[in-house]
Amino acid sequence: MAKRKSLIAGNWKMYKTVPQAVDLAGRLKSLVSDSVDVDVMVAPPFTALAVVADVLKGSAIHMGGQDLFWEAEGAYTGEVSASMLTATGCTYVIIGHSERRQYFGETNATVNKKIRSALLGGLTPVMCIGESEAERESNQTFSVVQKQLEEGLEGLTSDEVQKITVAYEPVWAIGTGKTATTDQAQEVHEFIRGRIEKAYGDSVANAIRILYGGSAKPENIGDLMAMADIDGALVGGASLNADSFADMVRISIDTVTNKT
Ligand code: PGA
Repeated sequence: MAKRKSLIAGNWKMYKTVPQAVDLAGRLKSLVSDSVDVDVMVAPPFTALAVVADVLKGSAIHMGGQDLFWEAEGAYTGEVSASMLTATGCTYVIIGHSERRQYFGETNATVNKKIRSALLGGLTPVMCIGESEAERESNQTFSVVQKQLEEGLEGLTSDEVQKITVAYEPVWAIGTGKTATTDQAQEVHEFIRGRIEKAYGDSVANAIRILYGGSAKPENIGDLMAMADIDGALVGGASLNADSFADMVRISIDTVTNKT
């Protein structure tokens, strides 16, 4: 089986003004050299995309948007389209982050539309799914994740699904310091891959990348990355510091090199 190339992605959320973003990107560029064994991506706020792209030129670090709107263009005040993202140098876009679902009313149906427009625009969608604490406690983790996956991917072909990166982010672990244990994460990742296999076949299931997100940091990234079905991380808090994010990239490279 061909090894999936892992991805370490930094979601800067609503942090970093333009000068602060330039500073962070510059530090990262000097710390993350040619990480051939893992892909690295950062998702700055929209206002900083153009300057960060400039700073990252010539580095191996990819850039992504934190969201997009599904229409190509039009009178949609405040929104940003796929082509606007690609024109700044983005190759990725995060879609359906739990904060978007929680605070901005995003649903599996809007996630589906956004994934379609990202694919159409040539962006790699990082589709976020994950259960809340109450859902985990009432044993609904698998059913919630399955519904988010099925409805988010509805109507897509196997070829399209293969281009997507899934991020499993248990909502109770995001920004809380509570990380899922490696076994808890692996169990859900395996379940997700199993559902994809059922719906789209073996080769799509083997090719698709499934990231873990939720208080991932230098101290736990090695153990997470060692798990069979964990192909990287979507990192919030720890990606705002160049040293800790670069450490996570380095530890991930070491771990995947030894992964069988
Ligand atoms: P966190 O955020 O690493 O700060 O928990 C993860 C995310 O929201 O993607």
